[in-house]
Amino acid sequence: GTTLGGSAAEKGRYFGAAVGTGKFNDSTYMTVLNNEFNSLVAENEMKWDHTEPQQGRFNFTNGDRIVSHARSRGMTVRGHALLWHNQQPGWAQGLSGTALRNAAINHVTQVATHFRGQIHSWDVVNEAFADGGSGGRRDSNLQRTGNDWIEAAFRAARAADPNAKLCYNDYNTDGVNAKSTGIYNMVRDFKTRGVPIDCVGFQSHLGTSIAGDYQANLQRFANLGVDVQITELDVMQGGNQANVFATVTRSCLAVSRCTGITVWGVRDCDSWRGSDNALLFTCAGAKKPAYDAVLREL
Ligand code: XIL
Repeated sequence: GTTLGGSAAEKGRYFGAAVGTGKFNDSTYMTVLNNEFNSLVAENEMKWDHTEPQQGRFNFTNGDRIVSHARSRGMTVRGHALLWHNQQPGWAQGLSGTALRNAAINHVTQVATHFRGQIHSWDVVNEAFADGGSGGRRDSNLQRTGNDWIEAAFRAARAADPNAKLCYNDYNTDGVNAKSTGIYNMVRDFKTRGVPIDCVGFQSHLGTSIAGDYQANLQRFANLGVDVQITELDVMQGGNQANVFATVTRSCLAVSRCTGITVWGVRDCDSWRGSDNALLFTCAGAKKPAYDAVLREL
């Protein structure tokens, strides 16, 4: 193939980008987006603070614009993210206990219901595990409502949109380590007990190198009976940027249940990582060496 999305499709995968409607009138941005990607995710506009700015008052305007643009061009859509400790609206930050639990589950139900039938995969819960060696949950207002908040969220999402794949998504999970093993144990437990989970997202916000067991880690999750997806890929520009992007792509393609890759933005100047120049296109929309390295692997 001659594009990221087209080449991925030939391998039964998708290749997507995180987008924001604030750039939809930038023609350089839209040309790259429309030519190269066959999946979109909202970088921010489906998060809790955007979709439920006041309790019970939902705003889907920009999320709908992203879905509609994607669907009109035959792209699939990832949903990001139903519950997360960051980017919560102020009113939710001020809740706790049963009131927060009920509000969170209602949020999952309302948002997943609104987008029902239009989302390929939902990040139902984002970043709920702690960094470091504990392998345990991250402390958060959601976690303090009870350890079962994650499974409650997955059950609510399944009920609201039975055809969407339901993912758990996190970062610093790019090899076998205490954090990824904590998540692995949760997924294994969910599969044993019949809690609905279909996929695990590996954000893969990377520096100048990549874990030697990146592929083996994806494979051990796949062996639990879930799909795996690379959900927020970006790589610090340095001597190894093209190699790291290539290794991620090759690893995904080597795992049959790795169904797609999403990069976290379109061009370097769209990236949340700023001066890292962490993406595949220059600000002028030119293909970088990392782009060529990814396309060679697809
Ligand atoms: C980031 C966005 O890229 C920024 O625009 C925003 O200011 C903060 O969030 N992990 C995630 C994403 O799951 O939602 C985050 O996106 C990056 C880290």
